[in-house]
Amino acid sequence: MNKVFKPAGTVLFGRAMLAQLASEMALLNVKYPVVVTLPDTMKKAVRAAGKLAPGFISSLPVTSGDPPEECDFLILAGGRALADRYAVDSRPKALVPLTDRHLAEIDGPVSDFLVADSGFIRDRKIMETFLRNYAFAVSDGLAQIPGNLKIPPAFTYSCRTAVHSGDEALSELPRLLREQGVTRPLVLTDKGIVAVGLLEKLTEVTGGFDIEVFDDIPPDSNSRVVNRISRLYREKDRDGLIAFGGGSVLDTGKGVYLNVSLQADDLGEWAGSNRIPRLTTPFIAVPTTSGTGSEVTKAAVISDEDRGRKVLFISSNLQPDHGILDSRLTASLPPHLTSITGMDALSHAVEAFTCLGKNPLSDQMAWKAVELIRDHLLPCMDDPQDLEHRRGLALASNLAGQAFSNSMVGMVHTVGHSVGGVCHVPHGSCMSILLPPSLEYNYEKIEPLLAELLPALAGQETADATAAPEKARKAIETIREMNRILKEKTGGRHPERFSEVVTREGKPLVEKSDFQEIARTALGDGSIVYNPEELRFEDILRVLEECY
Ligand SMILES: [Fe+2]
Repeated sequence: MNKVFKPAGTVLFGRAMLAQLASEMALLNVKYPVVVTLPDTMKKAVRAAGKLAPGFISSLPVTSGDPPEECDFLILAGGRALADRYAVDSRPKALVPLTDRHLAEIDGPVSDFLVADSGFIRDRKIMETFLRNYAFAVSDGLAQIPGNLKIPPAFTYSCRTAVHSGDEALSELPRLLREQGVTRPLVLTDKGIVAVGLLEKLTEVTGGFDIEVFDDIPPDSNSRVVNRISRLYREKDRDGLIAFGGGSVLDTGKGVYLNVSLQADDLGEWAGSNRIPRLTTPFIAVPTTSGTGSEVTKAAVISDEDRGRKVLFISSNLQPDHGILDSRLTASLPPHLTSITGMDALSHAVEAFTCLGKNPLSDQMAWKAVELIRDHLLPCMDDPQDLEHRRGLALASNLAGQAFSNSMVGMVHTVGHSVGGVCHVPHGSCMSILLPPSLEYNYEKIEPLLAELLPALAGQETADATAAPEKARKAIETIREMNRILKEKTGGRHPERFSEVVTREGKPLVEKSDFQEIARTALGDGSIVYNPEELRFEDILRVLEECY
């Protein structure tokens, strides 16, 4: 079963979102936006323009005719009719429904931005139907959730990546390259991928293209390698990027994407949140693991070798144009990598659903990701070559990636990042170990959410058979049980505790004497602010102790 996820664009939903659109336009360097509407909604469109103008320019032209040629951003104030009229206009655009009826007409992405500002949209039922239809449309019918949606006062959701999934999804690559006008792509990968023969799956389909391969990406991407690849890109006169590999290759790809698009030799200039403008280099990501969801996430972590620190970049403009999920590429992943990357994806989904940045679109993606992991992770351990399970895990990783990229994550990642940084424990191992005790730690704040997740984690039958007050505990128990089975199926390599993560010589990677440094580092991690429960130094020490 092939699935194609359309780019969701950016949904700005709730209070004061028109003002938010103004700052998005500033980031796109928009010079001459025009509000376009129909004659009968002129008055409302002028009101909408007034809400945009203070943060942007002194006055915004509003027309019910065609916008002038010099206009470089269309603000379509209305519903389906306007969206359809300008569907083929290649200028960037935002659709701003001015009434509940306008919003009710929209059942999927129709423009780069969709602004549902609560100044115009009031009907909760219509909001909910819209959010369900939107998630359903952008996930090719996968994302949906039982029960009512929780709609916060305001949220933003974006994904600009189109996702192509299937057992031979790589066969789409030549078409996607041609559509983007690419004839001389630079392929980024690592030596491990070349050694196991995976790169051949890619070169089999790119016969008609002048490809150049860089296969020297280290396990942790860094600014020196990004600069080296960017020079190669220019010297070899490349016209597009394909990142083919695991998390580090994809993150390096995002760094090169930024560097060659902006001719930026110092990446640090663009570090932080939402500082990156729209990038124009064609960029396709092909993951060879199912866990990070990096092909759709807005984040890249790249170490700055000269300054000796890890730098985080967050922007929807870092998302690749296309992500290709070819089930064959993960079929030969060793069992312990399948298990820890699967638990990484589960951590993304569960944290997206239970942490403070949750929103109704990320919730629907997260929910489906949890179901897919439930249905495919353990069976995949028994039948690793089965493409249906590999496909399920790739889709889960992708949906969980979309979810957490828009909701952020909490303490599983706060502590996990620092255990990884200080002791070099693989990220997926940290996630497997930290997920259950972190949910216990947050228990009081997230009990209803955990109870709600139980059917996705354990199946409807188990959820029905569990008494209401027990559901949340049962959800955590289900994850512990998954870890236990994964440990058994990997001959003990899937860890449940930090003391079990050892070097080849049997030496533990984490010593109790590292706890203080881990806790100190964790306090500086950006995800800490999204954790539902306050997390202090002593609390982190306690959780680490419990996980040892
Ligand atoms: Fe993660």
